[in-house]
Parts: sequence; C-alpha cells; structure tokens
Amino acid sequence: MRTIAVLNQKGGVGKTTTVVNIAAALAEMGSKVVAIDLDPQAHLTIHLGLEPQAIGAGSYGVLTKEAKFEEEILLVRPNLWLLPANINLVGAESELVSVVGRETILREAIESVEDKFDYLMIDCPPSLGLLTLNALAAAQEVLIPLQPHFLALQGFGKLLQTIDLVNKRINPSLKVQGVLLCMFDTRASLPNEVRADIEQFLESARGTNCAWAQARILPTFIRRNIKLAEAPSYGKTIFEYEGNCHGAEDYAKVAESIHAQFQPAPQLDTQPDAAEAAEEQNVQTAEEIQEQTAVESARDKDIPAPADATQGPDTGAEQNQGQPPIEIKAIPQPDSQIPSSELTQTTPPDPEQNRP
Ligand SMILES: Nc1ncnc2c1ncn2[C@@H]1O[C@H](COP(=O)(O)OP(=O)(O)OP(=O)(O)O)[C@@H](O)[C@H]1O
Ligand SMILES: [Mg+2]
Repeated sequence: MRTIAVLNQKGGVGKTTTVVNIAAALAEMGSKVVAIDLDPQAHLTIHLGLEPQAIGAGSYGVLTKEAKFEEEILLVRPNLWLLPANINLVGAESELVSVVGRETILREAIESVEDKFDYLMIDCPPSLGLLTLNALAAAQEVLIPLQPHFLALQGFGKLLQTIDLVNKRINPSLKVQGVLLCMFDTRASLPNEVRADIEQFLESARGTNCAWAQARILPTFIRRNIKLAEAPSYGKTIFEYEGNCHGAEDYAKVAESIHAQFQPAPQLDTQPDAAEAAEEQNVQTAEEIQEQTAVESARDKDIPAPADATQGPDTGAEQNQGQPPIEIKAIPQPDSQIPSSELTQTTPPDPEQNRP
C-alpha cells in the first residue's frame, strides 16, 4: 500500500481537490483507495458527499483510539473508501497533548489494512500541528500542492524542513515525491517564474540525504478551472460533475503519472540503518518537532524583507548539515495564520455505508 500525504500548511492551495480527484481517478483505474480526512474543516468528507454532522467517530475516533480504522472507513464510491472527519477533530490536538506516542497513532491504526488497499491518501489540514505530524508519520510519500502565485513560496522552506525532521526522527521512509502546481494560470508569467524557482531549488537537493532530494515538479499541472470549484458543492468528484473539462483531464493525467511513474519509497524493513538510527534516537516527540520548527519560524522573522519581493531567500533549512541551502525566491516572512474556512453544507448523495 502506498500512503501519500497531501500537504501544504498554506490554506486554499488545492489539497482537498487534489485528494478527492486523484483518489477518485485511481479508484476508477481499479485500485483500492482509502482517502483520509484529517482536517477538522471536513472538506474532503463534504466534497465526497457526506454530512460531517452525520458521521460517527471518524478520524477523531481513530486518533483518540476510541474507534478502529477498519470500522470507521466508509465505501463512498466503487473502490474508494473514506475515513471521514467532523468538527470534533479540532479537539484532538489538545486531547492528545499528554499521550505518549501521539504522533504515530495513525501509523499504528493503518497497519492492519496494509494488505487490503493499494493507496491511502491523506488530506492534511492547513497547519503543521499534530494532525499533520500523524499524516507524515504514517506516509511514505508527500505530495505538495502549490498555487504558483505571489507569496506562494512563503513557508515552503519550513514545510520541507518539517517533513525532513519527521523523516530523520520518526519515519525514515518518508520522502517528498512531488510538487503539484494547482490553479495554474497558463496566460500569466508569474506561475512560470515560480515554477522555475522551485525547479532550481529541487535540483540543488539532488544527491543529498534530505527528504526532498528526489522530489520533482509533476509534469502535469492543474489548470484553473471553474468546474473544479463548483464540483464540491454538489458532493461530486470532477469526473462525476463534468468529465470532459480541463480539471478532469488534468487530474486524470496526474493520477496516471502517480500510478505509473512514482516508485513507492522503501519500507522501514528495507532500510534497516535508517530505521535503527531513528530507534536509537528514541523517536523525537511531536512536541520536540513542533518546538524545533517554531524556532526556525522565529528565525525567519529576523530576515528583513527584500526590496524586490520576489528575490528574498528563504533560509529556513540553511542550518541543516548535509542539505542544500534554500535559495527559493520568496518573501521570507513568518507563516500567516491558518484561514479558518466555515463548513459548508451540501446535499449528500446517500453513499453506501459498506465496509471493505
Ligand atoms: N484548479 C482549480 N481551479 C479553480 N478552483 C479550484 C481549483 N482547485 C481548487 N479550487 C477551489 O479552490 C478552493 C480551495 O481548494 P481546496 O479546498 O482544494 O484547497 P485546500 O488546500 O484543501 O484548502 P484548505 O487549506 O482550506 O484545506 C476550493 O473552493 C476549490 O474548489
Ligand atoms: Mg482542504
């Protein structure tokens, strides 16, 4: 089973849209797919046509160990299961604060389904808190959706550093596999400039031992497409809502490339050295990782904003030995606050509630 965390701590970049439509495309190709909603906004749950108020324990129950993963996943389309979320998930971070090993609860919960599914895709919240750490501890691959606009790269260094810390301390299998450009406006020049900056940075990491050394920008990008924005309010995937639009075409291509080209990262047992190293370090806790990224975030604040806003270096990872300096042209300001979108209501299409 390939476990893919779809992550960017920036809000509204296309994470949920990406999980819904890639998961749906992979399921349509015949793979058995589980999508996990780890966002208290429950947008993935809503997008797939369920009422968050109507669900049971869902991902909150799994993270608090009150419910079993296999019992909470729902068959929402042929070959596509969902671990839904509701607003209770907001409380999980504080409720788990004193739980030992709280960052690996999801990883342990999915162990029992390892052989039952081909793909597990996790929709992360727009933050780098405990929910996201659980996703990173459970995943082998990270897919970073990124909207290539002004400020797009703000916080990108911190995001990569967090992934790298989790890779070094908790999950040696974790690798950033790709950056997916979403809401790409082919007519503007800035998206292409942002793309060139990311490409240059990713190239500079080749051959190093950092978690994004093999990352690449996916060759297919997702064009801005109004149908993608409309589909969630009908509780439909883009293939159900408008199968012939650019959005459907782009996501189908990305799903095919994920299916065909991305090699799953080696499992823990095929990396004995890395696994042992993590073991010896006694597995750094979520608290330590969050503290460390907070320090690095504070360090970002000391960097003066450049006169040319597109020329500022994000020095977030420069202190890490064995890793390339981050030279992304971005405005080096501290990450902005997480946008708190309101939950929207949709009419659920009464998905089957079958268990796998
Ligand atoms: N390619 C696209 N073209 C047009 N609109 C899009 C596209 N991709 C996503 N959207 C719309 O943009 C908004 C944000 O997308 P989405 O919810 O997938 O982002 P997100 O990163 O999951 O947000 P959050 O951080 O709040 O979870 C949604 O209204 C979605 O329908
Ligand atoms: Mg989302």
